[in-house]
Amino acid sequence: MTDRIVLAYSGGLDTSVAIGWIQEATGKEVVAMAVDVGQGGEDLETIRQRALDCGAVEAYVADARDEFAEEYCMPGLQANTMYMDAYPNVSALSRPLISKHLVAAAREFGAGTVAHGCTGKGNDQVRFEVAITTLAPDLDCIAPVRDLALTREAAIEYAEKNDLPIITTKSNPFSIDQNVWGRAVETGFLEDIWNGPTKDVYDYTDDPAFPPAPDEVVITFENGIPVAIDGEAVTPLQAIEKLNHRAGQHGIGRIDIVEDRLVGIKSREIYEAPGAITLIEAHRELERITLEREQLRFKRSVEQRWTELVYDGQWFSELKGSLDAFILDTQKHVNGDIRMTLHGGRAVVTGRKSPNSLYDFGLATYDEGQTFDQSAARGFIDIYGLSARVASDRNQRVQKQA
Ligand code: ARG
Repeated sequence: MTDRIVLAYSGGLDTSVAIGWIQEATGKEVVAMAVDVGQGGEDLETIRQRALDCGAVEAYVADARDEFAEEYCMPGLQANTMYMDAYPNVSALSRPLISKHLVAAAREFGAGTVAHGCTGKGNDQVRFEVAITTLAPDLDCIAPVRDLALTREAAIEYAEKNDLPIITTKSNPFSIDQNVWGRAVETGFLEDIWNGPTKDVYDYTDDPAFPPAPDEVVITFENGIPVAIDGEAVTPLQAIEKLNHRAGQHGIGRIDIVEDRLVGIKSREIYEAPGAITLIEAHRELERITLEREQLRFKRSVEQRWTELVYDGQWFSELKGSLDAFILDTQKHVNGDIRMTLHGGRAVVTGRKSPNSLYDFGLATYDEGQTFDQSAARGFIDIYGLSARVASDRNQRVQKQA
């Protein structure tokens, strides 16, 4: 049997050309696989047909939208994932899922090699290959754009020469990756980090400078997962989609940062993640009332590490698995409602309610009927401040002697 290669196929120029390019370079047949992670855009049947027209021996589409939302975005939400305090790991969350599907397809179609369309400068190549080697150490992995020197110019030339059914305009200068959790835009004039993003950079969000009237939304969580919006039951996928739409209208979740890549490059990135940012904002507030103080503090450092591991392509790693267990344990009381106002680029919390709340009105109130024993505070402060006082006494003593 001819050994086959399963290619992660997006329908774009690079991976379309890669089909023939790989076949010529390796003599192996190419099976194209497109994964639906809620990226929208072109119809996936059109994409599947294009892969066949470009020479793939088989082509298929995996609908992984619910799986992506449930098994990748929701853990991201429970971890309040925010790389460099700004980026909700949009692309980083999708790569392990696509890798899992690549491995499954390799098994199904009898392929010994898998391929992806990443360049040699980014994080995504690392994420794919580390995930694949963890899940299937026996599989080889190739990256035609990186390993077979498939440049953009060469790709366009190849497509024209071979009459491939793809649009080969040079008009879109951006490298875009999108899924239901958000959208990433890089390259082109954005590489000059003083250049502001123009209107055409955005797709998931409207300009927050001209927002419609404020929109009030109530999100209900169970164990840190959104289960209803305005009282209507939703799946995780529906929650993200609905909030992408509603928060997107208010320009929420636009992010413009210079980011540290794993490979040591600082790069300028524009993101849009209206649903993700709204959900994380709400989830964080619900944790503030349902997690005990020390647990909440400690979780912040776990989240940071979890986020770095996921960004760095360690989704299937041992440490990530251990941190998952901690995070999951913290979510058992994260139940309740968060009310927010969506307006002018921000999702602002205006109310919170939980059957597991640790907020005690009697302890907190400054009005009649308070239950906190204020006389106990003095003794607490005496002891709490004791070590600082002893050190200060010593410092004054030493100063006098000098
Ligand atoms: N910098 C982001 C990340 O590493 C986004 C990458 C987007 N990929 C792309 N091919 N445009 O997660």
